[in-house]
Amino acid sequence: MSYDTPTDLERLAGLSRRRFIGAGALCGAALFLGGNLLSRSVLADSVARASGSTLLGFDSIPTSTADTVIVPPGYRASVLISWGEPLFSDVPAFKHDGTNTAEDQERQFGDNNDGMSFFPFPNDPDRALMAINNEYTNYRYLLPHGKAPQSADDVRKALAAEGVSVIEVRRVDGQWHFARDSEYNRRIHGNAPIRISGPAAGHDLLKTEADATGTQVLGTFQNCANGKTPWGTYLTCEENFTDCFGSTDAAITFNAAQKRYGVTVESKGNNWHLHNARFDIAKTPNELNRHGWVVEIDPFDPASTPVKRTALGRFKHENAALATTRDGRVVVYMGDDERGEFIYKFITRDRFNAATPKANRDLLDHGTLYVAKFDEGDGNANHPKGRGQWIELTHGKNGLTTENGFNSQADILIHARLAGTKVGATRMDRPEWIAVSPKDGQVYCTLTNNSKRGGEGQPVGGPNPRANNLYGQILRWREHGDDGLATTFDWDLFLMAGNPAVHPEDPYDGSENINANNMFNSPDGLGFDDAGRLWVLTDGDDSNKGEYAGMGNNQMLCANPDTGEIRRFMVGPVGCEVTGITFSPDQRSLFVNIQHPGEEGGSTFPEHRPDGRPRSSVMVITRDDGGIIGA
Ligand code: FEO
Ligand code: CA
Ligand code: CA
Repeated sequence: MSYDTPTDLERLAGLSRRRFIGAGALCGAALFLGGNLLSRSVLADSVARASGSTLLGFDSIPTSTADTVIVPPGYRASVLISWGEPLFSDVPAFKHDGTNTAEDQERQFGDNNDGMSFFPFPNDPDRALMAINNEYTNYRYLLPHGKAPQSADDVRKALAAEGVSVIEVRRVDGQWHFARDSEYNRRIHGNAPIRISGPAAGHDLLKTEADATGTQVLGTFQNCANGKTPWGTYLTCEENFTDCFGSTDAAITFNAAQKRYGVTVESKGNNWHLHNARFDIAKTPNELNRHGWVVEIDPFDPASTPVKRTALGRFKHENAALATTRDGRVVVYMGDDERGEFIYKFITRDRFNAATPKANRDLLDHGTLYVAKFDEGDGNANHPKGRGQWIELTHGKNGLTTENGFNSQADILIHARLAGTKVGATRMDRPEWIAVSPKDGQVYCTLTNNSKRGGEGQPVGGPNPRANNLYGQILRWREHGDDGLATTFDWDLFLMAGNPAVHPEDPYDGSENINANNMFNSPDGLGFDDAGRLWVLTDGDDSNKGEYAGMGNNQMLCANPDTGEIRRFMVGPVGCEVTGITFSPDQRSLFVNIQHPGEEGGSTFPEHRPDGRPRSSVMVITRDDGGIIGA
């Protein structure tokens, strides 16, 4: 996250100017040499000459298939909190047989932690809040019977396991710990009251029998990744919401929008609709439209009602990466994680008010949404680059008219995917996280993989250069004029993941910065630290066989954005995804999530009890010498 530090406000004040200067200093050579900013070899040379040193101060570690977290020598990884941990002393402890009730789970740490942000207290360096997403739940561990929900109570427990957990953390002797019973500890789960605001609030498609106003909804769930605003609030992004809906009428005909968003009669096996009519499209069709948004939460006000910000569009949101424009407005970059879906950006209408944080309370309700269109690029096999444009998704523009089926701005936002198609946006290889460099403002986006690339409607080319894209790539772009207001940009691929051991001489061997010692697949999580190191987290095939031989468990790597060098920093336990990243303000603690260890069995992480269930956990990584992580 570009603002995931305690010095957000300070940084924001100088960001535009610094970003411009930084870009000039780093890229001047590239600029003069060809007009294309993204010549990596030139950039690498100039940086190497300027600094004479590397950004990465640790040695790449080997891969692993062990059921534990491995970090470089001199580092340690500790559990901060795990799924099911009571947030308050009067809540029952986590039970390894799955018999905790829904009521317990509503006041315990949620399951499958994903994106998260760190909010330091202004006047106490040893206290902070963390807002942490709980994306989904594993029924084999959540419920005593280990199957999909069989009752309304099972559904309530599943809803309780998802959403967001806000916790206080305190630092003692240099180590951060969870603070049970803090007045700030809070669960915002799948049944929590939430307000809907922005242009789509109150639209007929958002009204239900339970809420005739279309402005009050129960719950946020499938909370994937996140963002942090410069005014101190948390953004949680609703991703695979359609999986929670199904239809008790098997003969139902889904309309074009429902089909495009991927609903199924069977709810991908979640079965909530069989026990709670809210999730039954046959009975409550509009409930589906009330999910798939970005939700804003004020962690420092435990009594506050979270708000769904409809101006940012409705799709399968991965994260929200924030930056500022030269004139002080806020830009939000967002990916829609599905094969062939789009990348978006939102620009606020009004300027950010650094002096009065509360004045920004509704900043995200007014602005302009854009979708990205990429050209074919230069076709270079190792390092393709090209240009792109942002196309405005505003009613009355670019064919988004009533005659073409878009009746209002609300209609466009609710059906952002349909609007993107109408304006010719580029179908991407599953956009996951986006991160903005604190050094030069370049924007990075993980395109995790895409088995459908090369099939109908998803031609090979541009930033999606490989058919049946097994391994994924990291896309990067620079806004023209180094200003988020720009509607055009230059792009390149920062890396293409691959397996050089299995594919020595074909496009699946990866880009030049991938080798047998740092290879991985399916880049997903992404984040910068203050020094500009790029951290890459994976959610891929961990079979360690065939196309994935030698890659081991999912992992976290660290890259030098200027040279392209990438080293493996951490490997997770069996069956996990590594996701969610944030840092303490002093950069001496790195927080990272182990999500769904043992998803298919085979793990008892982190407690390793013979009779125990694996538990998703937040890890805190520190250095034995107390130094800066990665340096
Ligand atoms: Fe929740 Fe696209 O990962
Ligand atoms: Ca993800
Ligand atoms: Ca993923």
